[in-house]
Amino acid sequence: MSHNAIESTLQENRTFPPRPASEFGFPKWHVDSLDEYKSLHARSVQDPEDFWRDEAKRLDWFRPFDSVLEWHSPDAKWFVGGTLNACYNCVDRHVQNGHGEEPAIIWEGEPLGPRTSHAAAGSNYAREPEVRVLSYRELQREVSRFGNVLKSLGVKKGDVVTIYMPMVPELAIAMLACARIGAAHSVIFGGFAPSAISERVMDAKCRVIVTADGGFRRGDVVKLQENVEEAINHLANHGHIVNHVVVLRRTGHVPPSQRFADGFHQGSTTWHWWQDQMARASEACPCAEMDSEDMLFLLYTSGSTGKPKGILHTTAGYLAFVQMTARLTFNLIPDSGQLFWCSADIGWVTGHSYVLYGILMNRIPTLMYEGAPNFPTLEGGKGDRFWDIIARHRVTHFYTAPTAIRTFMKWGDDLPARHDMSSLKVLGTVGEPINPEAWIWYHKVIGRERCPIVDTYWQTETGGHIGTPLPGAIPTKPGSCTLPMLGIDAAIVNEQGQELGPNQGGLFVIRKPWPGMLRGVYGNRERFISNYWGRVKDARTGQPCYFSADGARRDSDGYFWIQGRIDDVIKVSGHLLGTMEVESALVSHPAVAEAAVVGVPHEIKGNSICAFVTLRPHWLISHKREPDQSLKNELIAHVAHEVGALAKPDQIRFAEGLPKTRSGKIMRRLLRDVASGVEKITQDTTTLEDFSVVAKLRADEE
Ligand code: PRX
Repeated sequence: MSHNAIESTLQENRTFPPRPASEFGFPKWHVDSLDEYKSLHARSVQDPEDFWRDEAKRLDWFRPFDSVLEWHSPDAKWFVGGTLNACYNCVDRHVQNGHGEEPAIIWEGEPLGPRTSHAAAGSNYAREPEVRVLSYRELQREVSRFGNVLKSLGVKKGDVVTIYMPMVPELAIAMLACARIGAAHSVIFGGFAPSAISERVMDAKCRVIVTADGGFRRGDVVKLQENVEEAINHLANHGHIVNHVVVLRRTGHVPPSQRFADGFHQGSTTWHWWQDQMARASEACPCAEMDSEDMLFLLYTSGSTGKPKGILHTTAGYLAFVQMTARLTFNLIPDSGQLFWCSADIGWVTGHSYVLYGILMNRIPTLMYEGAPNFPTLEGGKGDRFWDIIARHRVTHFYTAPTAIRTFMKWGDDLPARHDMSSLKVLGTVGEPINPEAWIWYHKVIGRERCPIVDTYWQTETGGHIGTPLPGAIPTKPGSCTLPMLGIDAAIVNEQGQELGPNQGGLFVIRKPWPGMLRGVYGNRERFISNYWGRVKDARTGQPCYFSADGARRDSDGYFWIQGRIDDVIKVSGHLLGTMEVESALVSHPAVAEAAVVGVPHEIKGNSICAFVTLRPHWLISHKREPDQSLKNELIAHVAHEVGALAKPDQIRFAEGLPKTRSGKIMRRLLRDVASGVEKITQDTTTLEDFSVVAKLRADEE
């Protein structure tokens, strides 16, 4: 987080009290006063077993649990002895209870169809997008069929299935099908590159990949199938065989002559078309009876080493936590005309919890949009597709990221003003600290100064919201995620685990287990302990605390202000990236001897990536190359190829050597200062950074 942002949040003291539920047509707020929140929160942390026993009653169980919690720090078992199924809780039970014909998923594709005659003259939307609505019954049927497809490919209870797809309903269907048959899904964001896929497939020991030929994004085709082919070849060279790939035909960009036939063998891998497989699959697929603590999914997230971590979530605890946080944070009420739209990709945890599981469990229709906010692209690269979607579908809940809000703000107020967004009731933000200016813009321009804004603080590891306003109970302050979620015993402590007083910056920790917490880092017990539990002990009890790796403070009202990561990961456009991941990608290029990557404050993205690179002189000579812009472009493209476009450095700066302390540690703080102090250099061809002087001066500081 930039210094400016910290300063502005320090000065921020505007408060927005909750408004009456009736103003929004809600019969009530689930939690409707600060006092009610406080007493619920006190109960939830003082008697968590009692509190969570009640919450768990909202799930449907095959077999009830015997006890609520077994806690042997850092290992938690929630709802011990119970059995249930996640897909049953999201889909089947609604069909069973007579809601089969209600919409579950409302999906809109990015491309627009032919121009229609009835469209208003001059409208950008003179062409209709493709919209599909899946009722719970249709979803149940599709999921059951795909469950059978997976079974026919040999997928069994406990296996991990990799899913690498665009934002299409089949992505949700594939995930729910895994849950239905008791396999865990490992979804990889469609923006990741082949090597990121192979790394995750290998780590999770996956044998089956579900993908699509491509996806549509800002009018272009994202070539997913090609990326999977490249990943599979790479895996085969490393002795890991992927047995089956199922490909959804979405873009059709591969010419028919080059398309494979269903069941085509290549190496040891068999390729199948989704559509062909589904046409043959039976609709009878019972929900597997899963233990509360059986794995529901893995989701890879960046850490401070080069290798991403497979965050492991289990069934009952995750479901209990996510259904509660979705219900309370967004005040979800079935049968009241709500339509929830979370614009995050399902490839991130936000999509898992609040496009899919949390929303469907609460029987609220969830809107999925395939593409970009600026398609069709208006003058200056702007777009108003999101506002058009909200207006056309009458979206009531909109949940997005600060980086998107800052972009919309830059695109101007006239774009939202063209659309009738009076259906909106609750607005949410997630993924990084929101600067008060963006919060106020969201409040005024999108929320018409009425809709509550829930700034939800959480992580892949926490499963769901851990700090957020509850819209009927907690007054909001722009830039603060306000107070802890029910069941979350959060505190700001120093390195010794002592709780700090108001406005003292410290470490954000959680002192008690909660049902949605990660159960491990897949295949890496040591990393699970050292990353999350090894750093801080509660000074009062001596017990390890969960440490989120975020710095934060609490103000005199007890409100949390998250200041950002204190480890070597950075948030770029709301996406977590390990600096080491980008560094490893850079040094895998033969021109690069050493690389150091730092985050630089960026107006829209929150942070941008600056890479300091030292080159191999011999390579330059033998390849007749110079340290020039074309080499910079090549390195940027190389990072995109190795990790994905989201990891592209904004700046590459060549250096003679990297500044290091006497013990050999790279002086990142110095690099950050250098990187943020100087304008982006685009045209330089010759300048090399000479750090020798500063390095000597600062050698003892880091
Ligand atoms: O630094 C915090 C930031 O995002 C990190 C978690 O990233 P990830 O696991 O990718 O999950 C993102 C979606 C939940 C946190 O450690 N972060 C997330 N939400 C907020 C936030 N920082 C400030 N305010 C938030 N609302």
